[in-house]
Amino acid sequence: MTFYVTTPIYYVNAQPHLGHAYTSIAADVIARHHRRRGEDTFFLTGTDEHGEPVADAARAQGIEPREWADINAAKFKALLPAIGVEPDFFIRTTDAEHKRRVQDVLQRVHDNGHVYKGIYEGWYCPRCADFKTEAEIADGNRCPIHEIELTREREENWFFRLSAFQERIERLFADRADFVRPARARNEAQAFIAQGLQDISLSRGRLEWGVQVPWDEGHVFYVWFDALLNYYTALGYARPGEDLTARYWPAQLHLVGKEILKFHTIYWPAMLWAAGLEIPEHVFVHGFLQGSDGRKMSKSLGNGLDPFEVLERFGVDALRFYLFRDVSFGADGNVGMDSVAARYESELANEYGNLVSRTLAMIARYRDGLLPDASPEPELERWLSGLAGEVAGAFDAVDLSGALELIWQRVRRLNRYVEESKPWELAREPAHSAALETALATLHLGLSAVTVELAPYMPGTCALVSAALQATPIEPIPPLFPKRDR
Ligand code: MSP
Repeated sequence: MTFYVTTPIYYVNAQPHLGHAYTSIAADVIARHHRRRGEDTFFLTGTDEHGEPVADAARAQGIEPREWADINAAKFKALLPAIGVEPDFFIRTTDAEHKRRVQDVLQRVHDNGHVYKGIYEGWYCPRCADFKTEAEIADGNRCPIHEIELTREREENWFFRLSAFQERIERLFADRADFVRPARARNEAQAFIAQGLQDISLSRGRLEWGVQVPWDEGHVFYVWFDALLNYYTALGYARPGEDLTARYWPAQLHLVGKEILKFHTIYWPAMLWAAGLEIPEHVFVHGFLQGSDGRKMSKSLGNGLDPFEVLERFGVDALRFYLFRDVSFGADGNVGMDSVAARYESELANEYGNLVSRTLAMIARYRDGLLPDASPEPELERWLSGLAGEVAGAFDAVDLSGALELIWQRVRRLNRYVEESKPWELAREPAHSAALETALATLHLGLSAVTVELAPYMPGTCALVSAALQATPIEPIPPLFPKRDR
């Protein structure tokens, strides 16, 4: 069984921030989970480097787009090890191999009769690189996302006959209720479809920074098609001398933020059909991280959470845990340094960290570090053995917060079990030796089960704990989540 998961490719016109880290960490958690399930997993991320936003940003710096893209793509790439994200490939849309494949696929779309030349006239947001339909225009002729004034565009473009796919898209949504999740996102996509799909620009005549249209060299492809195709082209050249396309396409899961839903759930399947290719299985649309005041994070409001500050104060695993614990994955949610500090202390240090230190210390002290050869407490054992299946079910629904909650219920139950069984009292009486061994075996089993499931979220921490649980003799380890200054 194969599992192919992607993040959006990020525009290199801005600096990487927590929002980008969020989707990348989510995809990494999912990839690690599926790898552990024994699935042949491929995880792709990268950068989107063509189009107006990038060309404009480069011009503002007085440098060539390629140079600007190189500088910023390097920053996105450098963020990954800092946040514990290990993709199988990092694609850049300026890769020659990507560009060649974009031309091949879109040439097929052309040859299959899905394009025509026409005049585009309408409203356009250069920051979204999006041609807005009437329903997408905010008051004052503004972009509803960027709140900037839209520009009036009139140019000769190649068009993609999206309107011809109206029925097929409707059928897709009717037949595959889980093509787009969660339901709120599916409803939004369906509302857009219900307005009637209009043909869209496939090329731009006036831009130069892009992939050349092979049948009309004065044009470059509209950046969104160049960008969307990354999910497909990467498989062709990620491994030198090997084509992974047959192995991993179609993708199981595209993760995207809610502002790019239309491109992924409507334009993308239509484009793939037009090229004669299979469409992905699922698109999961997550919400926005907002400042602690509930407003969109922004530099000027100073309400953002700086991922680098979290990394420095609490470490990478605390950041990864926090993002899916404090904000329900799929919904919008507020984040802030105070709530990171609170979760760190109450859940990581006092609950999981405490369970680890008590379990290791008691096995070391009461049994010289040797795991007793006793059966665990049967009722707890049964409950613990259900964990892997329940967590897998939550991951299949891309419910990263739900899976974490299932794990946390066990962490809490195990801490209560320590209080109830009181191993320190049992250790005083040789007559209670069997009961002590049951308690220690139960804790060892429970902590092992929890740690395996938690590892995709907190890989470094869980590797330490797993090693400590398997050591002979078992010995205490330094606190995993030491006290931090608030
Ligand atoms: N280049 C396009 C995507 C092309 S995909 C074929 C793009 N890039 S972007 O740099 O703007 O990145 C957008 C993505 O970053 C969002 O869809 C989301 O995954 C992530 N996020 C950016 N800000 C975010 C938040 N504040 N909160 C959550 N996710 C955020 O759009």
